[in-house]
Amino acid sequence: MSISGKKILIAVSGGIAAYKIHFLIRDFIKKGAEVQVIMTPDAEHFVTKLSLSTLSKKPVYSDFYGDNGNWNSHVELALWADVMIVAPCTANTLSKMIHGMCDNLVIATYMSAKCPVFIAPAMDLDMYAHPSTSKNLELAENYGHKIIPAESGELASGLVGQGRMAEPETIANTVENFFTYSGKTKSLEGKTVLITAGPTYEAIDPVRFIGNHSSGKMGFSLAEEASKRGAKVILISGPSTQVIHDKTIELHKVTSAREMLAKVFEFYEGVDIGIASAAVADYAPKEIAREKIKKNDESLTIELIKNPDILKTMGEKKTHQFLVGFALETQNEEENAKGKLEKKNLDMIVLNSLRDEGAGFKNDTNKIKIFTKTEKKEFSLKSKDEVAGDILDFVEAQLLK
Ligand code: PMT
Repeated sequence: MSISGKKILIAVSGGIAAYKIHFLIRDFIKKGAEVQVIMTPDAEHFVTKLSLSTLSKKPVYSDFYGDNGNWNSHVELALWADVMIVAPCTANTLSKMIHGMCDNLVIATYMSAKCPVFIAPAMDLDMYAHPSTSKNLELAENYGHKIIPAESGELASGLVGQGRMAEPETIANTVENFFTYSGKTKSLEGKTVLITAGPTYEAIDPVRFIGNHSSGKMGFSLAEEASKRGAKVILISGPSTQVIHDKTIELHKVTSAREMLAKVFEFYEGVDIGIASAAVADYAPKEIAREKIKKNDESLTIELIKNPDILKTMGEKKTHQFLVGFALETQNEEENAKGKLEKKNLDMIVLNSLRDEGAGFKNDTNKIKIFTKTEKKEFSLKSKDEVAGDILDFVEAQLLK
């Protein structure tokens, strides 16, 4: 479903990211949506009503009282909207929304709204990382709002970190996806999808571990996408700071490969699609020292033993499950990926190579090739959310064969 004809209420609060809202409005208008902009008094320091109303083709309101002595009804504005987007949402506006501090038109409209509410926070990194912001975002999710998380990068302050508002394309995609998938029979309805994500940590002593650079982003994106498509999603993740926005996803946190294996097999029988995106440590220390190892000697030898191969075990015990593996390679990529497809008894494997810029660990992007026993498909560099969509499109196409 497109957003043509949808009524979109955009509430702008006072942050530098407000300048990006022009692009969002233009995109929605081009796609045939109706856009009404309201703003907090402080937002007027960052962007003008004139530019916003020129693009939205409607007057922009920041106050209850219009220039001609008329009343800008927050209730009418709220009930008019099919969806409300608060972007940028400053720490102050977020806090007022959560705690009902109804002292401006934006908050009064928000509190009167019955439609779905999207929040795109934007603030400096320390404000974003502050426990009060995390708590308020968590409460916003509990209220049923959809959070479009802030992205990492250079901030207006010159500092670098998480806090910048999601790009207008991301906000637009999120809202469009919402309209596309809501109320529609979803493509993975009735399916149970199990996803492994993140790294595993293998303890050396109570202080140290062997791990890797996986952030969990790829697996969490897959989980969100599968859930949007109507699947019941079981996400088994090693240590990761990623958060799940869709509360219907069942998240199980584990630490080591052995814990991940045990958790996977608690659910495996009932799974229709298994996707192993975790970067599982191949080896673990044979013994875990009970006390912190002292640095008395010039060298230290730790004996490692092989960890169970979770995906290979899933392949061996496969009955009806459709199994998707990942291959993270640095050389002979295609050959190694195809070898893993065969050896682990998979239906499909997703190859990402660390030789491709922007692919693999940590980044918000990935570049993949997908292989089955008979097919190969190559994709361009995309956001991990989009990559998740490509992977699930491919899975769905295979299931239809
Ligand atoms: O988490 P991000 O920062 O977003 O990064 C994403 C990613 C790079 C980790 C992801 O895209 C990825 O490639 N995951 C697989 C990494 C990996 O360990 O690849 P591998 O080629 O070593 O393993 C092959 C497959 O076997 C993988 O599906 C892996 O989950 C699985 N495996 C490996 C070893 C093991 N002991 N058990 C397993 O299940």
